[in-house]
Amino acid sequence: MATLKILIFPDPKLRTVARPVKQVDDSIIKLTQDMLETMYEGDGIGLAATQVDVHKRIIVIDISNEKNDPIVLINPKITKVINEEIKSYSEGCLSVPGIFEELERPSAVEIKALDIDGKEFTLVAEDILSVVIQHEMDHLEGKMMVDYLSNLKREMIRKKMIKQRVSK
Ligand code: NI
Repeated sequence: MATLKILIFPDPKLRTVARPVKQVDDSIIKLTQDMLETMYEGDGIGLAATQVDVHKRIIVIDISNEKNDPIVLINPKITKVINEEIKSYSEGCLSVPGIFEELERPSAVEIKALDIDGKEFTLVAEDILSVVIQHEMDHLEGKMMVDYLSNLKREMIRKKMIKQRVSK
């Protein structure tokens, strides 16, 4: 396994819309393993392929405390909003390091996706899992958590990210 370089906001490549995976082959399996490694190393709970500059519809997630319960979603689709109730969570993003913002999203959704065997499965995601999946699926559309914030706040974060990049 290898860790991959994570694109940092405002890198324009993060705005790319990802394409569906046609076939879940060995290269896709290797990519999901590298994405998991990269996510764990960054102490994240979710990562979209977009964030490692691979524009395919793949996300990896692990919300367990022990970091031993990875979920891989290939070509994920939200098929149902199960609970319209909006919950607010403090969200972070490996592409916007050090920033946490309260965002509101539906608290339960049903998702269909392919697993690493290429088999379709259905997942009912609630609370934090629902939030993470929606956050990561946004990445596949080229959308980011900063897009939900005011222009002023987004601009402040943009400047901060550029400053951090320069000082590294
Ligand atoms: Ni993110």
